[in-house]
Amino acid sequence: MTETFQFNLLATDGKARRGTVSMPRGEIRTPAFMPVGTVGTVKAMYLDQVRDLGADIILGNTYHLMLRPGAERVARLGGLHELIRWPYPILTDSGGFQVMSLSGLRKLDEKGVTFKSHVDGSLHHMSPERSIEIQGLLGSDIQMQLDECVRLPAEPKEIERAMEMSFRWAERCKAAFGDQPGKAMFGIVQGGDIPSLRERSAEALSGLGLKGYAIGGLAVGEPQAVMLDMIDTTCPHLPTEKPRYLMGVGTPDDILKSVARGIDMFDCVMPTRSGRHGLAFTRHGRINIRNARHAEDMRPLDDQSSCPASRDYSRAYLHHLVRSNESLGGMLLTWNNLSYYQDLMAGIRRAIEQGRYADFIAETQDAWARGEA
Ligand code: GUN
Repeated sequence: MTETFQFNLLATDGKARRGTVSMPRGEIRTPAFMPVGTVGTVKAMYLDQVRDLGADIILGNTYHLMLRPGAERVARLGGLHELIRWPYPILTDSGGFQVMSLSGLRKLDEKGVTFKSHVDGSLHHMSPERSIEIQGLLGSDIQMQLDECVRLPAEPKEIERAMEMSFRWAERCKAAFGDQPGKAMFGIVQGGDIPSLRERSAEALSGLGLKGYAIGGLAVGEPQAVMLDMIDTTCPHLPTEKPRYLMGVGTPDDILKSVARGIDMFDCVMPTRSGRHGLAFTRHGRINIRNARHAEDMRPLDDQSSCPASRDYSRAYLHHLVRSNESLGGMLLTWNNLSYYQDLMAGIRRAIEQGRYADFIAETQDAWARGEA
């Protein structure tokens, strides 16, 4: 732990990077996967379990928390860490992306975004400055700039307009954030699927000298090859000595391939959301536990796992729980999935340290392809 926010690169293997992000509330081992705790809970999990699986940081959402319970209220209650009993680092997304995907009626212009709450229909305005103020009230350790993420496919002019406005919002967020040595505000590269716009966005943001950089606007409906191309285009224009965060990504395969291209941090609802819907991630690939073929299968999801959910419960029981809509089904599958994701990240980190990352990718993909024992 350190008084100031720092990123140290410990090892590289090709473009893959092994590092640590240090700050007063703790250290993040990178490449890192951040479980999503949208409204102040990693759904269906105790935070003690999340920690025990190896998570160094979790994510919270400005949009949800400002609407309920409210940023000022969270601050009065001692801040998000205190409220949810997670003393380690928290990253908060800025709200722009969630406004676009969740709220009704919205108006977006240079000043910010006006939107209707999905909770009670009330009208709200959020400027870049207010987004940073809210993230400060929550007590977030890594705050994100307000940005506009365009859904693909989109017209180049539209992608360019949103990218340029997002850059101006980054400048305003940087000014609003000011100088907070133990915390960070990350900029977000936009530019859709257009390489020249991605380069311009990354170059301009790099010029702001921020403490970290995210790549946004991906995994929004484009093929994986396009996403990987955009990462390849963007990373050379970001400073090597700052952490790089790929927002909202992804599947285990997306993560493997993005790490190989120089990404350090990830977040995604996939392990938690799909767990609640009956999908299990394992070393041998994905298992849809609702499928009738699991009804009398007494094997656990993974007898080699150190996670009780993966090792001690039969597929037959998990199948029964999920089919019966029992909460324990979602709880156990979420636990299994987050365990799988954190074990994958630990394997990735070890392989980079040992200079055998290419082999690790091949072995991991091979085990998925071979399927269940
Ligand atoms: N989460 C996933 N993609 C994005 C993005 O482009 N912007 C923000 N703010 N959050 C995201």
